[in-house]
Amino acid sequence: MALWGGRFSLSPADSVFALSRSIHFDWRLAPYDLRSSLAHLSVLRSSSLISKDDAKAIEGALKELVSEVASGAFAPIASDEDVHSALERGLTEKLGATGGVLRAGRSRNDQVTTDLRLFAIDHILEIAQLLTLLQDAILDKASEYVDASAPGFTHIQHAQPVSFGHELAKHAHAFARDLDRIHDWLARTSVSSLGAGALAGSSLPLDPQATAKDLGFSQTFANSIDAVSDRDYVAEALYIMSMVGIHLSRIGEEWTYWASTEFAWAKVADQYSTGSSIMPQKKNPDMAELARGKSGRLVGNLVSVLTMLKGLPFAYNRDLQEDKEPLFDSIDTLLLVLPAVTGMVATTDFDRQKMLDAAPLGFSLATEIADYLVLKKIPFAQAHEAAGKCVTLCESTNRELHELSDLEYSSIHASLDGGVRAVLTVKGALDARVTHGGTAPSQVNAQIKKARSENVATQKSIGDAQKAFTGMMRA
Ligand code: ARG
Repeated sequence: MALWGGRFSLSPADSVFALSRSIHFDWRLAPYDLRSSLAHLSVLRSSSLISKDDAKAIEGALKELVSEVASGAFAPIASDEDVHSALERGLTEKLGATGGVLRAGRSRNDQVTTDLRLFAIDHILEIAQLLTLLQDAILDKASEYVDASAPGFTHIQHAQPVSFGHELAKHAHAFARDLDRIHDWLARTSVSSLGAGALAGSSLPLDPQATAKDLGFSQTFANSIDAVSDRDYVAEALYIMSMVGIHLSRIGEEWTYWASTEFAWAKVADQYSTGSSIMPQKKNPDMAELARGKSGRLVGNLVSVLTMLKGLPFAYNRDLQEDKEPLFDSIDTLLLVLPAVTGMVATTDFDRQKMLDAAPLGFSLATEIADYLVLKKIPFAQAHEAAGKCVTLCESTNRELHELSDLEYSSIHASLDGGVRAVLTVKGALDARVTHGGTAPSQVNAQIKKARSENVATQKSIGDAQKAFTGMMRA
């Protein structure tokens, strides 16, 4: 059903209708559109702009549509342009001319962005909840491996030994930042646009504050031209989801190489692995690779919306219809990827012995020699130089740092003696790193404990927000 046409003598060409149409992707906004229509109806009713009887009939029809949309009994047809026109068709099919009453004081311009904000809040909360479950899985796995030692890397070269629990737990901290971003985003996104009209507000006695409250928004738009134009919340949501995707891709990368034959640290569970159609022996970490690969489309969706917005005049321009598919795609992508990665993390086992054996390789304890000398008041530059000489001597004689003789130590530096061997162990190196946030198991346990309690608080606040949102949708 066309929402316009009075001033046209010809209907749009097929190609125009085909290009204008958004129903094939915006139909998922239907529940939110119906809910915001109920809010709009309330203000029309309380301002006596429509008769009590009409209001009652429209409310009944809207509520019927809510269940018919949910059950699929009411669905779009080929001639519907978008979600708004399809639902107005639904109303007029039920009520005749009265179905068109609701359009008073409202434009698709303020309507669509109100719907999209509601949709985005609902789904980003779901993603936030999934993120906390992934954090749970990461922290559980990290606790299991706090006492396991492994090489820590910089430049993908052995750097210093670390607690493997420390290595795993780091990912939970990255996701905590994403959750923090979501928290801030929610506050900025909880702004109602309803009442902005096409761009200039309304000459009818509407009450945008009342609609905002009804829809659970914490604020009302301040400037109607900005209100119909603002898609910052879409771009920001896409940025946050890109960051989540990037964090997932870094987990994916680690899991992929940890599962390789060369590393053989990770044993990915059968349910989270896939086989090869030609090589019967293969067990591939495809979930990790997809987590890595999907980050590309998340970043692509962000770039697509930013590029669409760049230089766009304010108020409504049809370009803005291009905000939806990228947002929907990023949300759908994360809803798919997050549970799979959570399952993969929760079910992967690691080979403690392999990691422990690898921990001291590549002279990863050389820093211990330098620190030993610093504790003897030798300037770090000299201490670093001496440790470096130990490495060179070991390399040329094919030995490990603790295998040098007392004489060799002292000939490299007068203050270096056999006592250094006590710190040249993986356990010693780990236990010594007790500074805040460091890799000593006692520190790692404290980090995990704190992260867990923050996670519990986040889960509760997301749960509360979800409950409030569901309550608002049911009203
Ligand atoms: N389907 C449109 C969108 O998604 C609705 C707004 C149309 N507004 C207009 N003035 N043509 O943006």
